Amino acid sequence: MDTLSIRAQNESKNITPLLKNFILVQQNPYDDELNPNGVCNCGVAENYLCENELISKLQSIQIWKGNHMYYPYSTGELSLRQASCKFFQKLFQLNYQLDPERMVISSGLSGIISLLGYLIGDIDDVFLISSPYYTAFDHDIAALANCAIFRCPSLEQDSGKFLFSVEIFKRGYYEAINKGLRPRGIIIVNPHNPTGDIYDEQTIQPILEFAAEKTLHVIFDEVYALSIFENEKPFQSIFNYTSIIDPERTHFIWSFSKDFALSGFRLGVLYGGSKELCSSGAAVNFIQIPSVIIQDIAAVLLSDQQWVDSYIKLNRLRLTQQYKKVKKIIEDMDNRIYVRPAKAGFFIWADCRLLLHEVTFEEEIHLFQIIFEHGVYLVSGSFLGCTQPGWFRIIFSVKEKWIDEILKRLKSGLDAYRQSTIASRA
Ligand SMILES: Cc1ncc(COP(=O)(O)O)c(C=O)c1O
Repeated sequence: MDTLSIRAQNESKNITPLLKNFILVQQNPYDDELNPNGVCNCGVAENYLCENELISKLQSIQIWKGNHMYYPYSTGELSLRQASCKFFQKLFQLNYQLDPERMVISSGLSGIISLLGYLIGDIDDVFLISSPYYTAFDHDIAALANCAIFRCPSLEQDSGKFLFSVEIFKRGYYEAINKGLRPRGIIIVNPHNPTGDIYDEQTIQPILEFAAEKTLHVIFDEVYALSIFENEKPFQSIFNYTSIIDPERTHFIWSFSKDFALSGFRLGVLYGGSKELCSSGAAVNFIQIPSVIIQDIAAVLLSDQQWVDSYIKLNRLRLTQQYKKVKKIIEDMDNRIYVRPAKAGFFIWADCRLLLHEVTFEEEIHLFQIIFEHGVYLVSGSFLGCTQPGWFRIIFSVKEKWIDEILKRLKSGLDAYRQSTIASRA
């Protein structure tokens, strides 16, 4: 170990369980034909529901060109930035033009967060986020920028409400100040992971006002913007807000990983508050810029408007249908499980408190481990910084043909937990 830097030595101690398990499960993934004894992955937020349609579309894109052999443009290929601007303009029905010079392409949204942290945060600055949340941000914001995430728990978690409002950020801000920390920004994930909630402008405007008063940046992670269930109100992006009080400190981020189910492309998009911010990222982004060929494929994909429209429609339909199906099966499996209704995303956010021998984090992990031993990886709420023990996040957008196997394993895991003794007495 002493061959490693102190930072790397600490990494193995400090890695969030979310990433640790992600890496573990990747080593032995379930496949009905190739690896039937592998682990069923209901923990990593991926979407397999339009896999066939995506494969045939991607196979039709034959774009090999000589320039794919040479260095990419360090803030992203102009063709992809232009196509992305047009795509967001159409998607959010904007009556103004987006500027490709305010856009940066990087290695997934993870790369974008780490780049933004570097561009707007100084060493040890903190970024406020409502918890529970996608805890891989802890690493993203620390890796390049040496900044940290500061958790602002949503309210009334014990009653399952997970209330989101400016109050939680005010509370978090002063708590951070009292600890001698320097808040530099707020990250808002909308639609939200893991609750599947959608926040409207009315809820968010007071946060923008508070942020402006304290000169905080606000980063809008809208990575699930197209993954809204059918019959929900149209999603209001930050691009659609009636006013933005501090535009230079307001940033939009998105990626191809979720709405286009292309997590392997590692393509993230930043629409920054200013051109200066984006051009300042050019040198440092060079270490993580995606390949030219992948950027070109994505640009061609986005430019086929007819295909994009039908894909978004189909994806929303399948997400809605599979969400309803899996939610019902899980609730029927044991009527002590309550699935909190979601409006978007890939998540079943399940209250399993009534199943636990005791409502403690220790028992939550005990249940998680038994289910894992039965071959299903799902995410325990504590891995997401949930302050109330007993919640679990289950990804439902898995391959449809694998659902029966997953549920069979889940059921035997729950039966085994029922017959187990309390972890602390084991
Ligand atoms: C809210 C949120 N932001 C960012 C990411 C990371 O996305 P990417 O694959 O583009 O790095 C995830 C992945 O689960 C996520 O849920």
